[in-house]
Amino acid sequence: MVHELTSPAPAPDDLRRASPSKPGWWRDAVIYQVYVRSFADSDGDGIGDLRGARERLPHLVALGADAVWLTPFYASPQADGGYDVSDYRAVDPVFGDLADADDLVRTAHELGLRVIVDIVPNHTSDQHPWFREALAGRGRRRYHFRPGTGPDGSLPPNDWESVFGGPAWTRVADGSWYLHLFAPEQPDLNWDDEEVRDEFESVLRFWLDLGVDGFRIDVAHGMVKAPGLPDIGHREQVRLIGSQQLPFFDQDGVHEIHRAWRRLLDSYGDERIGVAEAWAPSAERLALYVRPDELHQAFNFQYLNCPWDADALRRVVDDSLRATTSVGATTTWVLSNHDVVRHTTRYGAGAAGLRRARAATLLMLALPGSAYVYQGEELGLPEVTDLPDEVRQDPAFQRGEGQDGLRDGCRVPIPWTSQGPSYGFGPGGSWLPQPPEWRDLSVEAQTGDPASTLELYRSALALRRAHPALGAGDGVEWLPAPPGVLAFRRRAEGAALICTVNLTPGPVRLPAPGRPLLSSAPPAGACAGDAAALGGKVPAPARELADDDPDGAEGRTVLLAPDSCVWWAS
Ligand code: NOJ
Repeated sequence: MVHELTSPAPAPDDLRRASPSKPGWWRDAVIYQVYVRSFADSDGDGIGDLRGARERLPHLVALGADAVWLTPFYASPQADGGYDVSDYRAVDPVFGDLADADDLVRTAHELGLRVIVDIVPNHTSDQHPWFREALAGRGRRRYHFRPGTGPDGSLPPNDWESVFGGPAWTRVADGSWYLHLFAPEQPDLNWDDEEVRDEFESVLRFWLDLGVDGFRIDVAHGMVKAPGLPDIGHREQVRLIGSQQLPFFDQDGVHEIHRAWRRLLDSYGDERIGVAEAWAPSAERLALYVRPDELHQAFNFQYLNCPWDADALRRVVDDSLRATTSVGATTTWVLSNHDVVRHTTRYGAGAAGLRRARAATLLMLALPGSAYVYQGEELGLPEVTDLPDEVRQDPAFQRGEGQDGLRDGCRVPIPWTSQGPSYGFGPGGSWLPQPPEWRDLSVEAQTGDPASTLELYRSALALRRAHPALGAGDGVEWLPAPPGVLAFRRRAEGAALICTVNLTPGPVRLPAPGRPLLSSAPPAGACAGDAAALGGKVPAPARELADDDPDGAEGRTVLLAPDSCVWWAS
C-alpha cells in the first residue's frame, strides 16, 4: 500500500539512533507503550520482564518510536497488574531486578529512545508497609480511614463506588473503613499528609537519578478528594467518569501536586516529563493539567473514545487542539492502551475493523502533537474476546457493576515469530493464551510485506520523522470535503501535506488532492471503471478540493477506498 516513501523503513536489525535530542522533544514524540508483562519474556516463566523488553528495544527503533513507556514493574502482589505497589523503589522479582531496570534505561538511551516509567501515587498496595502499619493502628493519617455509618457503623462512610465495582470502602477488624477507589487491595493515599507528599518526591528522585526521562502518572486526577468526602447521591458513578466532575476525581487540589512535581522535574534541567493519566469532563478541564507550570502531556481519552464518525472526530480534534493551544501545550493522540478494547476490534469486527484501525492510525499520525502507540497495534492485533474465565486476571472481572472487567483481552502477549512456544514471546508459554492465528500476525510474518500493518506503521513513522509538516505545529487547516470524509492540510517549513480520510463504508470520488505519499488502502486513479472495480456506489465528486490542484492534476479525480486514509504531497 506504500506509494512513495521519502526514506525507506529501517531494517529491524538497524540499530541507528532514534530521533536526536531536540528541545521540547515530547511535543511531537511517538511514544510506544510496553505492557511489560506481555511484551517479551526472557526467562520462560510465561510473564514478560525487563530483560525481555530490553532485548526487544530494536523493534521500537525499527518502528521509528521516540520513547518507550513501561507499565509498572515495581514490587507488587499483582492484584491489579502491578498498579498495586508494595515497594516503589524495588523491581518485582517476576520482572527482574534494579540492575535490569538500569540496563534497560541505559540501552534505550544508547538507541536514542527516551524512557517513561509509570508512577502510581493515588494508592498503594495493601501489602505496602504503610498500610500494614495502618491496619495495626499506626499512621492511619496516610490513608482515608473513617468510621462507618448506620446505627452500628456497619454501612460505608459514604456512597462512593469503586471503579472496579462495589463500594469504594472496606471495613477492617476494628470496625472502621478505608477508602479504595479501585480494588480493596489498593487503598487510597491521603495527599493532605505531608509525609505522603515527601515520600513521593523522594521516589520520583530515585527513578530520575536512575536516568528515566519522565513519568506516566496513574490516576493523576484522583489524588485529592473533595473536603468532607460528600455523598454523590446516585449509583452507576463509574459511567460518569470523564463526563462529569466527581468528588473523588478532577478536584482542583490535584494541580498543586502537579506543580510541585513539575518543579522537581525541571530541577533536573534536561526535559524530564510528566504525563497525566487524567479523566476530565472536557478538553478545557484536561488542558489545566498541561498548563506551563504543570505536566507536559495528558492522555486524550476523548479522542480514544470517539466513534468512527467524521463529524465526531473533527469535533474532538478541534476541541483538543483549541484547549491545549490555549495553554501553550501540544495535544496527545491515543487509540489503544492496556485498559481498553483494542481499536481494531472497537471499530468493528473483522476486515472492517482492521481497515478502520489502519486508517485511524494514519489520521492520528498526521495530526499535530504527540502520539501513543500501544504494543501490538502495529501488528493490527485484535482484542482477544474468548479468553476462558479461569485465566482472566482483571480484578474488575470478579466484582461486576464497575469497569467492564474485560481488560485481559488487550493484554495477551504479543507474537514475535511464526513458530516456537508463545510465538517468540519467550522460551516458555504465555500467561494468557494466544490465538493460533496470531502466528500470521507476528513481527516476523509481517516484516518485509508491504501490505502488512507493521510495514504501514514503519513507513508512516519514517515519513513522519522526515516530513516537516507532520507531527510539529499546533493546527490543521480543514478543507471542504463530502459527507463522511475528512480532509485537512498541514504546513510547516515551506512543506505541505494533505490528509484525507474516508470514514464511509463505500468508495468516494474526489478531485486529486496531490500526489499520494502513503495510504492505509490505495486510492484508485481517475478511470471511469474505478467504481465498478471497487464494487461500490460513487457519491458525487467533491469539487471543492479541485481548487487546490497543487500538482498540475487538474481535472484528475481519485477514488478513496472505503474506510481509508491517504497522505498526499501537496
Ligand atoms: C489506570 C491504569 O491504567 C489501570 O490499569 C489501573 O487499573 C488503574 N489506573 C488503577 O491504578
